[in-house]
Amino acid sequence: MSIATLLLKGKEYDFPVLEGTEGETAIDITSLRAKSGAITLDPGYANTGSCTSAITFIDGEKGILRYRGHAIEDLAGTASFVEVCYLLIHGELPTPAELLVFDDQLTRHSLIHEDMKKFFEGFPPSAHPMAILSAMIASLSAYYSEHDNELNIIRLLSKAKTIVSFAYKKSIGQPFIYPCNALSYTQNFMQMMFAVPAEDYVVSPVVDRALNLLLILHADHEQNCSTSTVRMVGSSGANLFASISAGICALWGPLHGGANQQVIEMLQQIRQSGQSARKFVERAKEKDSGSKLMGFGHRVYKNFDPRATILKNAADQVLAALGMRDPLLDTAMELEQIALSDPYFIERKLYPNVDFYSGILYRAMGIPTNMFTAMFALGRLPGWIAQWKEMVKEPKTKINRPRQLYVGKTAREVESVETRIAATV
Ligand code: COA
Repeated sequence: MSIATLLLKGKEYDFPVLEGTEGETAIDITSLRAKSGAITLDPGYANTGSCTSAITFIDGEKGILRYRGHAIEDLAGTASFVEVCYLLIHGELPTPAELLVFDDQLTRHSLIHEDMKKFFEGFPPSAHPMAILSAMIASLSAYYSEHDNELNIIRLLSKAKTIVSFAYKKSIGQPFIYPCNALSYTQNFMQMMFAVPAEDYVVSPVVDRALNLLLILHADHEQNCSTSTVRMVGSSGANLFASISAGICALWGPLHGGANQQVIEMLQQIRQSGQSARKFVERAKEKDSGSKLMGFGHRVYKNFDPRATILKNAADQVLAALGMRDPLLDTAMELEQIALSDPYFIERKLYPNVDFYSGILYRAMGIPTNMFTAMFALGRLPGWIAQWKEMVKEPKTKINRPRQLYVGKTAREVESVETRIAATV
């Protein structure tokens, strides 16, 4: 085993150097504070490994993303979302017999408790679906014992799609459509979203495949903001539903999963204002403008985001297969072309990320813009669950508790009220 030596205030300290299965190097500083009294400072955790994990591998320089060793391109081309859920959670793709059982379980646990329907009544129609989703997922812990984790994993995966579609029906004032056991996971979701009573609804195979693709591409992304939140909350011993609900809240932010909604709003704003794409890109480069090119840049990918490449091709194909044209796709492609040849974006290694093209596909499927982040959450569920399960099973897991570098006032006396008043005059 190799050693890294730290020279601190004239003293040397040795730390083991660990190597991941893909050759990544990590300095194990677990003993740093005990040995030296010092801590590391890494705001945003860009250089900090918070755990070891065997679920997802990303090489941001080479644009590689693999779930349990399988390239995202292979899974996107051949697997169903349910198979990918199984892969992430159990470590291997299912055999046909395993898939049959898993699929059946996911179907049979789709109903939510009838009492939970009343919760939807309490939300205003304008409620953001992410507010409803996080509240409902946390509420599941009120109905199911936290001691049956394997079944709770099935319940969570299965009921989340019902909750997301009920949130949509609530927002448009339509009656809830119950899940149908004869349909697949994705078909079921689409019929709960778009069917209306007394009318037949059939999910187009093109839309069904596009939905599988989108969910697969979002299924895991190692220790990102929401996944780290799930692990952080779970490390305190909080139950599965509470931990995932926290992850949903973290995903909501515009710098994370909320970016997909912002991309479409940005594209619409460009078209409606008549502003040129080039002018928008210029504005996004100005620090004080408060404007960014949403859907561009990534903490890990510094060359290209393989998910964006897959989605760009899929957007073209799906629109063609559905006989649709979306002017926002033209604006997106124009923005991409301008940004990719602009030194500002080249120097900072800013490329389109998964959110840049996902919204075009969601729109083609009839999913409204404010539902996009909830769709991301639906896709990310198996990843959060797999990461939570891995953390719970890891004997070395401790409650997550970072340190800080204190930069506030040093010790001082409490002044009398008179002195404080005198100081303000
Ligand atoms: N538009 C314009 N400038 C951007 C940018 C964008 N989308 N993303 C990053 N930059 C600039 C930053 O201003 C910074 O410039 P500086 O070095 O002159 O200060 C530089 O690029 C590095 O960005 P930084 O914010 O430090 O990178 P990060 O790793 O902390 O953040 C993101 C990554 C994803 C949060 C960031 O790129 C971003 O906000 N993107 C838009 C939101 C988005 O699409 N999020 C979805 C991620 S999947």
